[in-house]
Amino acid sequence: MNPFRFDRLPTDDSFFDREVEVKRIAKAISDGENLLVYGLRRMGKTSCLLRAARLAAAEHDAVCFFADLSLYSSLADVTEALLKSALPELGSLGDRAAQFIAGAVSGLVLKPHVKAKFDGSASGGSELELEIGAELRGKDAAAHSKALTEVLDALDKLAKKRKRPVAIIFDEFTFVEAIGPDRVSWQLRGAMQRHQNIVYIMAGSVRHMIDRLHGEHGPFYGMFGRLVIERIDPDLMAKWIDESCERHGVKATGVGAACIRWAGSRTRDIVQLARRTFDIALETKVATEATVADAIKALLEDFDEEFWRLWSPLSSMNRSILQAVALGYGASLFHGEIIARFNLDSTGHVSQACRTLERNREGSAGYRPPILGRIERGNKVEIVFDNPFFQSWVAGVTQPRRIAAFTFRFGDRGGPSSKPTES
Ligand SMILES: Nc1ncnc2c1ncn2[C@@H]1O[C@H](COP(=O)(O)OP(=O)(O)O)[C@@H](O)[C@H]1O
Ligand SMILES: [Mg+2]
Repeated sequence: MNPFRFDRLPTDDSFFDREVEVKRIAKAISDGENLLVYGLRRMGKTSCLLRAARLAAAEHDAVCFFADLSLYSSLADVTEALLKSALPELGSLGDRAAQFIAGAVSGLVLKPHVKAKFDGSASGGSELELEIGAELRGKDAAAHSKALTEVLDALDKLAKKRKRPVAIIFDEFTFVEAIGPDRVSWQLRGAMQRHQNIVYIMAGSVRHMIDRLHGEHGPFYGMFGRLVIERIDPDLMAKWIDESCERHGVKATGVGAACIRWAGSRTRDIVQLARRTFDIALETKVATEATVADAIKALLEDFDEEFWRLWSPLSSMNRSILQAVALGYGASLFHGEIIARFNLDSTGHVSQACRTLERNREGSAGYRPPILGRIERGNKVEIVFDNPFFQSWVAGVTQPRRIAAFTFRFGDRGGPSSKPTES
């Protein structure tokens, strides 16, 4: 079995490190301290939150409600997701907890619940599930926001009655601004200030939004402690990858280090590459740096169609910028020589195009991450790819013969490994 997993909550065996972060979040839940969890995309925030919720439930008898706001298009959906997510169940807040909430919030309906919960736990007494009724669902964003607030009010009352820690975890909370009505964050602030018995954990990765919402003039200013999810120590992570391979019957030499050198700082990217490497190594039971290079090629082939879809609609100006960044000129993009070499027109145009490529793209399938990001150090700016796989693909597509060299040499001459880590 492959020890490296992604796309779902890692098991104890496939989850590495983060004891400090997970304990910190669980402690905030049990102590009633509102906490802002910040970290770049794919660094491992959601995994930490879900593990902390489990830990807080196991050790402090906490009830945690969780919703990832980037997944929904209305606060009605968020409210419903929140109510369905309680770990452990809503019913453990009392036999009539669901009825109590339904009674307190007009527009919520009770439905008998049929399936087992996703964590497989036994029903905590309630056979009923709460849903947003059709009438409420048909109303506007302001009505949905009001219903969410009322649900939170009701949970605060329940928490007080039951004397149990109750946490509301809003993952990717900055999306509330996109799906809620005007001033929704200020409404939420009002509710949070009223609630003496529930704790709010908010996680986010969109830096400028977090700065705005939690900054000096923002609605959440001064109400939250902070936890930053940084990269996992690369040496420890490399060692863990090698040891995980060995534990599962694959002899690994320098595999972890190669995965990190190539995939950069984000946990998910590293784990994804390690997973593919392990799959390839299963045949011979041996993995080396060359296996990692094969895994990169295989992953790029998998992503080919998706990346073409990303690439084809881009203007030639945007393509040239991506090409320059992919080839290692992200820090010198605004230099005259690079502008001339890649036909980038002018500093102003480059700057404008980068801003566009750094924005979250709206798509019919909902949230999609931006193509580029930036690292700022003092007055120095470096433009970087958000996704190391797309970077490699762009380098390969624009210089077809380069790709083999690129992957086999692990990025000397400006490949991803020469990229400084985000701070
Ligand atoms: N500490 C970890 N150990 C192993 N895998 C991890 C760890 N943290 C994250 N991952 C993997 O990376 C993927 C992305 O992590 P996630 O928590 O969703 O990141 P974020 O919420 O910051 O975008 C997860 O599906 C998981 O498989
Ligand atoms: Mg997440």
